[in-house]
Amino acid sequence: MKGPVSQQLSVGNRLRCLLQALQAEFGWSQESLNPAVVDKKLARWAASRGIDLQELVAAALGHDSVRPTLWELAGALSVNETYFFRGRHQLEWVVREAVPERLRSRNRAVLWSAGCSSGEEVYSLLFLAAEEGTGSGEEVFEKMVVFGTDVDECALERAQQGVYSERSFTFRATDRAVLKRFFEPLGGGLHRVKEEYRGRAFFVRDNLAGAESPFLPGTVDVCLCRNVLYYMTADGRRKALRKIARALAAGGYLLLGEREVVEEQPELGLQLLNSGGVTVLRKGG
Ligand SMILES: C[S@@+](CC[C@H](N)C(=O)[O-])C[C@H]1O[C@@H](n2cnc3c(N)ncnc32)[C@H](O)[C@@H]1O
Repeated sequence: MKGPVSQQLSVGNRLRCLLQALQAEFGWSQESLNPAVVDKKLARWAASRGIDLQELVAAALGHDSVRPTLWELAGALSVNETYFFRGRHQLEWVVREAVPERLRSRNRAVLWSAGCSSGEEVYSLLFLAAEEGTGSGEEVFEKMVVFGTDVDECALERAQQGVYSERSFTFRATDRAVLKRFFEPLGGGLHRVKEEYRGRAFFVRDNLAGAESPFLPGTVDVCLCRNVLYYMTADGRRKALRKIARALAAGGYLLLGEREVVEEQPELGLQLLNSGGVTVLRKGG
């Protein structure tokens, strides 16, 4: 049974198998996956690997022997849209308010961009910290490390390389002076984040809806999980929030996307707070 995947299975079966597997594993909601787009991406993904129907269905059904395939599919289907300085006032609040406050009682601030895509959020935090200048701003930059996690390995690879094209969506909120300060031109419209910032960013694959965590409990000072829970089922969101709450230190902060509904999570010890016009959840204790 060779040929484009879309010709091999009925549309209903193909999407149902795959969406159910993705939903269960990564907490994604069906509404977040546009069937037409999924269909196209799925066919392209299968064709590029020359895999056949059996393998695709096995992956969709989550047999252990082909589990990595499901992760790859997640990468191929995830919505990666992001750009530098997205939701800038939230990021400024993190480097001006949250991190200095955390540094008053700790020697180092650990930041976590959960669902970091290709790394723009991670680097934006480092750039803004560096822009704060001397004094406490300098201390913020020197003492903070930023981790980015995502399910999509290709996006993480791009993040690690720190190379972005000026023809893409990514620089839509970045002016020339900022581009010059934090990036080195590579030619052909490509720009690489300077080494001093890349060296402070760490990228790790992680499924927010999965049981394992890259962080020990109580070790994260600020987590940004913006525009990620939006794509998840209620169950996926619960799992992700539980994982984040466990990783947060007492007094640590969680920021969701600007247009995401933020609700208090008393059972997870997360209290709602408004600080300088920014809505955040704070871990009690
Ligand atoms: C729309 S992007 C948001 C990027 C960035 N946080 C922002 O606000 O610009 C959503 C990212 O979440 C990732 N993602 C989706 N489900 C995930 C999961 N279960 N665990 C980890 N990352 C996930 C996707 O791969 C994608 O890169």
